[in-house]
Amino acid sequence: MSERIESVLHEERRFSPPASFRASARIGDAATYQELYRRSLEEPDAFWSEVASELHWFRRWDAVLEWEEPFARWFAGGTTNLSYNALDRHVEAGLGNKVAFFWEGEPGDRRVLTYAEMLREVGTFANVLKARGVTKGDRVAIYLPMIPEAAIAMLACARIGATHSVVFGGFSAQALVDRIVDADAKAVITADGGYRRGKVLPLKPAVDEALQRCPSVETVITVRRTGSDVNMEPGRDHWWHDLAKHASPDCPAEPLDAEHPLYILYTSGSTGKPKGVLHTTGGYMVGTYLSTKHVFDLKPNDVFWCTADVGWVTGHSYIVYGPMLNGATQIMYEGAPTHPAPDRLWSMVDRYKATVFYTAPTAIRAFMKLGDAHPSRHDLTSLRLLGTVGEPINPEAWTWYRRVIGGDRCPVVDTWWQTETGAIMLTTLPGAHDAKPGSAGLPFFGVEPAIVDVDGNDVARDDGGYLVMKRPWPSMLRTVYGDDDRYRNQYWSEIPHVYFAGDGARRDADGYFWIMGRVDDVVNVSGHRLGTMEVESALVSHEAVAEAAVVGRPDEIKGQGIVAFVTLEGDRTGDDGLRSALRDHVAKEIGSIAKPDVIHFAEALPKTRSGKIMRRLLRSVASGEELSGDVSTLEDRSVVEKLTGAG
Ligand code: WT7
Repeated sequence: MSERIESVLHEERRFSPPASFRASARIGDAATYQELYRRSLEEPDAFWSEVASELHWFRRWDAVLEWEEPFARWFAGGTTNLSYNALDRHVEAGLGNKVAFFWEGEPGDRRVLTYAEMLREVGTFANVLKARGVTKGDRVAIYLPMIPEAAIAMLACARIGATHSVVFGGFSAQALVDRIVDADAKAVITADGGYRRGKVLPLKPAVDEALQRCPSVETVITVRRTGSDVNMEPGRDHWWHDLAKHASPDCPAEPLDAEHPLYILYTSGSTGKPKGVLHTTGGYMVGTYLSTKHVFDLKPNDVFWCTADVGWVTGHSYIVYGPMLNGATQIMYEGAPTHPAPDRLWSMVDRYKATVFYTAPTAIRAFMKLGDAHPSRHDLTSLRLLGTVGEPINPEAWTWYRRVIGGDRCPVVDTWWQTETGAIMLTTLPGAHDAKPGSAGLPFFGVEPAIVDVDGNDVARDDGGYLVMKRPWPSMLRTVYGDDDRYRNQYWSEIPHVYFAGDGARRDADGYFWIMGRVDDVVNVSGHRLGTMEVESALVSHEAVAEAAVVGRPDEIKGQGIVAFVTLEGDRTGDDGLRSALRDHVAKEIGSIAKPDVIHFAEALPKTRSGKIMRRLLRSVASGEELSGDVSTLEDRSVVEKLTGAG
C-alpha cells in the first residue's frame, strides 16, 4: 500500500477530453457538471425527481427520500419495475428491433438478441418461474456462465418481484451452499456448464453437491450450454428449454414497491462470513440509469462493452441494469479474454464496432504484458471512450490503455464504487473533466464524499484518511440481508453518522480523489474482493491446519496476491504436497480465485500479548520488506525471526 501511495503522489499528468469528444458529449464542460452537482446536493428532491421521471412508474413516489439513519427509503410510496423499464419501455417506444446483445460464446458461436426478443425471452422465463411456484418475495439463486440466459433470468426475477442472488460461476459448491442457505433460496438457475480457456467448466455437478445441504431448494432449472451429461433429479430438476416450450411470452411486469428487494449479492468483509448486500428497486434503478448515461456518455448508436462477469456487481449494474435501462446495444462474451488467442477481445471490438469499453486494471495490466502487437492487429478506431473499475490503476497501465487501446483519442474514466454503493460514486465525466492517471476523479451527482480521520474530522487536502460518504444516495445498499446490526456496525458505526467505505484515500488540491486501497482485512485479487478471514477459515477447516493467517502482497498483474502463513496440527510437517492439497482445499471451499499464491509453514504466528495476530508484520514478510515499526507488543520475538529466516 505504501508503494502505491508514493507512486501516485508523483503523478502530475493531466489528459483533457479531445475537443471533438466534448462537442458531442452529454456534459461537455466542467461548469455544467458543477451546476448539476450543486443542484444534486442543494436541491436533491428536485434533482432526483427529474431523473426518476425519465423512467416509468406505475405509481409516483410520495417522498424522494425518507432517512432514518442508517435506513433509507428512496422514492417512498412509488411503484415501478426494472424489467419493465429495461425492456417494455424501449419496445413501446419503437426500439424493439434495436440490438440489446451481440453475444459470443468462447468456442465462437454467436447470438444476436434485440430488445423485442429479450422481452419475449424474459416474459417466457418469468412465466416459467411462476409455474414452478416462484412468487414475489422469493429468493432465486443464479449460477450461470456469461450467456444471455444470465441476464434473462435476472430480468425475469425482477419482473415478478423475486429477489435474485447471483453466485459467480467460479465459486465452489460450498460457497454456493453458504449463499443459498443464507438467502433461503427456493430455486436455482444453472447450466450444465460453460466454456473457459477451451475447456468445459461444469456447473450442474456443483449444484447437485450443494443441494445435498440445501433443503430450501425446490426447483433447479438448467440451461443446456455444453451438452455434457448431467444428473437430473426427477421432480426437482428441469431443463430450461423444456419448460420454456410450454410457457407464454406474455408476462406483465409486476408493479413493485420502490423498496422491494431486487437482489442480494454476497461480498467479502473483514469477518469469515460473506455479507449479503441487499439492493432494492427504485433507487438502484435511478442510480444505475443516471450513472450509465453520464459516465459512459451513452448515445443511441453506442455499442457498449463491459467485460465483467454477471457474478459481480459490475455485471449487475453495468451490463444488466444500467445499460439496458438506457436502451443500449451491448457486447457480451462468455469466455477467457485470451482464447483462442490473445487478441480475442480486440477482434470483437473490431467485429461489433464497440464504442465504449469498460474493464478492470488487472485485465489491462495482463494485456499490456502480452504486448502491443495483439491490439495493433485490429481496427479499434470505433472506440471513443474507455473505463476502468475494481482497484487502483497504476499510471503506467492507465497511459498504456489510453495510448494503445484508445489510440490517444479516447478519454479514460476511472470509476470508484463498491458492491454496496450499487453505482459509480467517484469518476471523471469524460467530456467535462481532465483525467489524472491513477485518480478516480470527482464525486458523481448526489454523492458527498469526504476524507476523514478516525474521529470523523475532515483531514487537510492531500492528507490521507478514510473515505466516507456524508449522505445517503439512491443506489446504496439498504442492509446486510437478514442482519441489520451488521449493516449498522459495518458501515455506519465505524465513524459516526457517515458511510464508511473501508478504503483509504486522499483528495488533492483540485478535489480529485486518489484511492489508496483497503484499510480493513480485505484483499483485492484481480479486482475481486476477498476477506482474508474467509481464506483463513477455509485453511483451518483442513485437518492438517492448526492456525492460519492470510495477508495480501503486491502483485504485478493481479494487484494483490494471497500469502498464507500456516501452523500445522501435532507432528504434521509441511511440504509441497501439503501446499498443493491446501490450495485445492481453498478452491473447494471458496473458489479458485481464493487460492493462496504462497503458503509459508510456520512454527508459530506472531501475536500480541492479547493474542491478536500481527498482520502488519506478516504483510511485511509477505512483501519481502524490511520489518519496521513497533514490535514492542509482540509476545515472542523469536517467532518473527524464524518467519523472516524461512522467507
Ligand atoms: C472495492 C470494492 C465496484 C465494482 C468492482 C469491485 C476497490 C473499486 C476502484 C477504483 C481504486 C477501487 C475499492 C473498493 N475499487 N473501484 N476505481 N479505484 N479502487 O467491487 O468487490 O465491492 O470492491 O474495490 O477498494 O472498496 P467490490
